[in-house]
Amino acid sequence: MNGSGVRVGILGASGQVGREFLKVLSKRDQLPLSELTLLASARSAGSVMEFRGKRLTVQEVTEKSFAGLDIVLASAGGAVSKQWGPIAAQQGCVFIDNSSAFRMEKDVPLIVPEVNGHALKNHKNLIANPNCSTAQLVVVLKILHELAGLKRVIVSTYQSVSGAGKEGVDELANQTKALVVDQSYPPKKFQKQIAFNLIPHIDSFADDGYTKEELKVINETRKILELPDLLVTCTAVRVPVMIGHSEVVTVDLERTVSPAQVRESLANSPIVEVWDQPENNIYPTPLDCAGEDPVYVGRIRRDTSSPNGMNLWVVADNLRIGAALNAVRIAEYMVKHNLVGQKV
Ligand SMILES: NC(=O)c1ccc[n+]([C@@H]2O[C@H](COP(=O)([O-])OP(=O)(O)OC[C@H]3O[C@@H](n4cnc5c(N)ncnc54)[C@H](OP(=O)(O)O)[C@@H]3O)[C@@H](O)[C@H]2O)c1
Repeated sequence: MNGSGVRVGILGASGQVGREFLKVLSKRDQLPLSELTLLASARSAGSVMEFRGKRLTVQEVTEKSFAGLDIVLASAGGAVSKQWGPIAAQQGCVFIDNSSAFRMEKDVPLIVPEVNGHALKNHKNLIANPNCSTAQLVVVLKILHELAGLKRVIVSTYQSVSGAGKEGVDELANQTKALVVDQSYPPKKFQKQIAFNLIPHIDSFADDGYTKEELKVINETRKILELPDLLVTCTAVRVPVMIGHSEVVTVDLERTVSPAQVRESLANSPIVEVWDQPENNIYPTPLDCAGEDPVYVGRIRRDTSSPNGMNLWVVADNLRIGAALNAVRIAEYMVKHNLVGQKV
């Protein structure tokens, strides 16, 4: 860092999450930015993007890209992160990665700052941002754990197509347009037709019948909450929604608490909003959360099948808390706690 602020790079700036980084950074002032460098592949090098009224030119990422940067916010996929993350880290640059490349590595902190910011201590310049479904889930689980002790978690996700990148968004839009005028539009990005349908298959299948997306949610939740033996299971489903992941979360708690106590604890969090007045049709939907920062929770009620069980409906913008916003919050936390600029 130099005296005037933090030099930040966005790797994957031309992508969906990259664009969201620009939006998030332009609205927040907690990160004292002195320079912003936009990086992508040769495909978008030379294109121009706007940031706070200035025109910035996207550059092709090379070995020399990291020398003058303090922090890189990376969202260019796992292979690109594996190629450049260690090089950036070695050059003293903090590499905050949105891909799954390093999440489960022992030496790589997997962070949602409001949940486990303390785990950034002793970092080695490589930091992982969790899977989008995990990020919104752990914010709620951490609060429930502090309130009444978590025993078991069952989560079913309803994940929007933007979680599959720009190609996913284009496929839903184009397929919907084609089908309403009776034209065919075979699936390319998704395994099956996504328009007017839903698909219980995200990422590839592992040998035990779970998808890798489901295993990410299970393993990352345990790592972030520092509860390696937590009983947790997941079913992940892709739904024809553009932005916003929703989750049905059922928890078994150690102690008996009322829905009112759960509402109160969640409402005390600065990053959670409780929308839970079913009598007035008040509960969150993905359309409500798109472009917004909070994790929204509604439909809080006892699980009728278990004495200390509770059901919740959790909705958030997957491009924000699930990606760009969380990574920017990690950067802010690291700057605030003097964790940037360390040699490894
Ligand atoms: N979408 C989500 O909700 C979400 C949430 C959490 C994490 N993520 C993760 O974030 C990453 C990006 O997701 P996305 O939705 O933004 O995808 P996307 O819209 O397809 O964007 C991909 C970006 O990566 C760049 N890129 C691709 N290959 C590159 C290379 N060889 N060298 C440099 N840059 C390269 C692209 O640049 P060009 O324009 O030059 O091709 C583009 O800027 C993925 O790892 C994804 O898993 C996404």
